[in-house]
Amino acid sequence: MRILGIETSCDETAAAVIEDGRLVRSNIVATQIEMHATYGGIVPEIASRQHMKTIIPVVEDALHQAGVGLQELDGVAVTHGPGLAGSLLVGVNAAKGLAVTHDLPFIGVNHLEGHIYAAWLEEGVDPAATPGFPLMCLIASGGHTDLILMRGHGDYELVARTRDDAAGEAFDKAARVLGLAFPGGPEIQRAAESGTGAEPKLPRPSIKGSLDFSFSGIKTALLHRARERGVYPPHEGVVPNQDLVREMAAAFQTSVAEVMTVKTVNAARRHSVRGILLGGGVAANSRLREMLQEMAPVPLYLPPPALCTDNGAMIAHAGCLRLLAGEREPLEVKVRARWPLAELNAVASQQRCG
Ligand code: KG4
Ligand code: ZN
Repeated sequence: MRILGIETSCDETAAAVIEDGRLVRSNIVATQIEMHATYGGIVPEIASRQHMKTIIPVVEDALHQAGVGLQELDGVAVTHGPGLAGSLLVGVNAAKGLAVTHDLPFIGVNHLEGHIYAAWLEEGVDPAATPGFPLMCLIASGGHTDLILMRGHGDYELVARTRDDAAGEAFDKAARVLGLAFPGGPEIQRAAESGTGAEPKLPRPSIKGSLDFSFSGIKTALLHRARERGVYPPHEGVVPNQDLVREMAAAFQTSVAEVMTVKTVNAARRHSVRGILLGGGVAANSRLREMLQEMAPVPLYLPPPALCTDNGAMIAHAGCLRLLAGEREPLEVKVRARWPLAELNAVASQQRCG
């Protein structure tokens, strides 16, 4: 079974072909980062315009690299929420066009479910080797930071979420304070690699009686620290002291990683899960991965870093599962800018993609 997966919910135009559920035959990601970097964040209008320009070449590349023609596909899966409405529309309409003109089954996929299923892809976990359900899923990206109890395929319960910024958003804002580029997560990770731990700890905020996250306190503490040390605000033509930047990046990264690790481990214990699964761009963070590897009381399932950030392969895999379960989307499906995972119906069949 060969599925084309398309993802355009934010600032990556991505398409992939997967075979037999998990085998990634191609995975093309055209990032728009440079176009948004000067603004320090995603500009929705620029994002959708750029998706319009790149969607067809990206799909063609994905098919070409996989050595597959459209007529050899068994279905088209596309992210249809949550995300930026204008960006989602481009991917959904491209996918619909391909499905109609080639008489292919078409399925809309929840982006967060895609992030969850990235852990099942080729280089990730072998489904046969999973400890089974329930799993505690930490999905941390630029727009979400959720702990989700996954009781089975397609069966989700939201256990905790962020009360303010998403973890990725916090990384992006912290990077701006430290004079680092956008997106901030990879930049902070790179700067932190040569940190020595000299910077005193930043806070580890917790909310009494709740596993919800809050990152704004860490971000504000970093801002105050950066002001005290003269790293912020930036002065024209003055490069901030890079030793200080590295130490503060390391302190920030450690705080965020520790908060996420402790809450995930607590949630895993509280719900007696059989495994912990990570997904979303922040799951690529090396410090978070290390800490969870050290502290997880149950097996940990981590996609390789390149499959943590947005890609079409994860959408193809999640879509494949739903297509195999007999789900089909009517072609008039609308995009859903907001779409909590818990609203998804459980997939009737437990059948794995294969
Ligand atoms: O999942 P994703 O690619 O897009 C969304 O669905 O939002 O996540 C993007 C977010 C950005 O905020 C980016 O800074 C963060 O993931 N990110 C990271 C790392 N790589 C990407 N954060 C921390 N460490 C990383 N290595
Ligand atoms: Zn994402």
